[in-house]
Amino acid sequence: MLHQFIERAVQQAVAKVLPDADMSSVLVRPCPDPKFGDYQTNALMSLAKERKLNPCQLAADVLTQLNVSEWCEKVEIAGAGFLNFRLKVSALEQTLAAVARGGHLFFEKAAEPRTIVIDFSSPNVAKPMHVGHIRSTVLGDCLARTLRLLGHRVVTDNHIGDWGTQFGKLLLGWKGQLDRAALAADPIGEMERLYKSTNAACETDADLLERARQELVKLQNGDAENLVIWREMIELSQHQFDTLYGRLGVEFDFTLGESFYNPRLKQVVAELRERGIARESEGAICVFSDGSLPPKEDPFLKQQDGQWTPNPCLIQKSDGAANYATTDLATLAYRFETWQPAEIVYVTDGRQQLHFRQLFAIFRRWHPDAKVKLSHVWFGSILGENNTPFKTRSGETVKLAELLDEAESRALAIVSEKNPNLSETERREIARVIGLGAIKYADLSPNRQSDYVFSWDKMLSFAGNTAPYLQYAYARIRSIFRKAGAGMSPAAEIRLIATEEITLAKKLLHFGLVLEAVTEDYRPNYLCNYLYELAGVFTGFYEACPVLKAADAERASRLALCDLTSRVLQQGLALLGIETVEQM
Ligand code: ARG
Repeated sequence: MLHQFIERAVQQAVAKVLPDADMSSVLVRPCPDPKFGDYQTNALMSLAKERKLNPCQLAADVLTQLNVSEWCEKVEIAGAGFLNFRLKVSALEQTLAAVARGGHLFFEKAAEPRTIVIDFSSPNVAKPMHVGHIRSTVLGDCLARTLRLLGHRVVTDNHIGDWGTQFGKLLLGWKGQLDRAALAADPIGEMERLYKSTNAACETDADLLERARQELVKLQNGDAENLVIWREMIELSQHQFDTLYGRLGVEFDFTLGESFYNPRLKQVVAELRERGIARESEGAICVFSDGSLPPKEDPFLKQQDGQWTPNPCLIQKSDGAANYATTDLATLAYRFETWQPAEIVYVTDGRQQLHFRQLFAIFRRWHPDAKVKLSHVWFGSILGENNTPFKTRSGETVKLAELLDEAESRALAIVSEKNPNLSETERREIARVIGLGAIKYADLSPNRQSDYVFSWDKMLSFAGNTAPYLQYAYARIRSIFRKAGAGMSPAAEIRLIATEEITLAKKLLHFGLVLEAVTEDYRPNYLCNYLYELAGVFTGFYEACPVLKAADAERASRLALCDLTSRVLQQGLALLGIETVEQM
């Protein structure tokens, strides 16, 4: 890609002037203000500062070693030592022509592919998936798709919650009041009912609570009857999850639930005690601060009444049972050993931040030489229109399946109004693509760490930063080709004359940079914003530059710009897990 060619040339020039410089900091990025150029590097200023050199002098020295005339106009030194680059139109034309010939789509595969494990979705058995799980699913899936496209080895692992104290009450409820017909009709609904009613009864009945506890102990000890029921609960839940994943187009390489790690938990606790990382405290086994971090950054300290007090991580309860943290430690070690990843990414909501900070800190103490990067990619809450957590009218958590149904039926109403002439099958298919796209895009386009208000009207709108707007932009370009017919086809040579053509070409060129930024910061919203801007720039081009009415050579070149734009839109949406239709 052009910016990478320029970057490599700048790195070579810097190496000639400062042979010891760290090249990883010498980057070429888009200029924030196109007034100054298309790309810039600010690396020379910090290199000069480290060495007490005059930054403008260093920039001038680098410039004498730099030859980018194939791609750029005269390079300018600006401000306190920036290098600004303006692309030559001929270089743009050549790059676009290479894409038109099918060479690439404005991105390069990673030179050093990395293995990255992504833990996402991870719903809980016998409970419905809720809106938080969809956000994890959609974000995780987008990161996996983008990393894969860039050539990395991605391992997706769905860490299903299939173990824990809830099974005591579930087993008791199942044995006492299971309604088989209800279970067949809506397994998760029925299991949720069993859990809720038993849980409520246990609150006032100590006897019942004790019986639930005994059911749990029996399960933990491998009681045959309880194991059979537990397996049935998992199977029924998995079936319902799979139906949802099928609708969302999400696949996992592995689904290793929490219970998979049960045989390893004792060993984890024993090892952490042997190494002095964990110790007994009031009958439980805990990890405390080792004092290696400033209190503010130490996940094992919390502030209480103006004092830093211990905030230990429990890894074994006083009754000897392991917990979520123990399981996650075993899981982390297993992933590390099995896949030897460069990185492990966890996608969950923001309320689990402390859990992951403690988990990562314990793992570092346990495996001090491990080079694996550990990232918690967390997200904010989804709010209802009144700014409180998103709930149904009766105050229940919103179920994912119902949410998807409603999205499709609302989209169908819109599509039917816009396209009364299409057949019902066609309208339903378009509505499916629009409805699911709208939901996913609403999850992906805000900054993931801020809460967002769930609004049907906003997400299904054909105007603004929404999936339907982008899907429509794509379909509109495809309709140009239908009108053009077989006689007019895009050129393999591209000529950029009008400013709108040049602006569009430069925007297309940024696609690869955006993909890299998405995978560096785990922020799909960068891609959403880019696609939205691209669609806007395309509109500007289409309004200023006639395509089908232009003369032959110009028309073929402009058709090529249309084609490239539609390909980037389609590929970009596909990375968000969003489908397109040719007509809508
Ligand atoms: N099952 C958990 C939940 O629903 C999410 C698990 C996330 N992954 C992990 N390795 N802890 O909140």
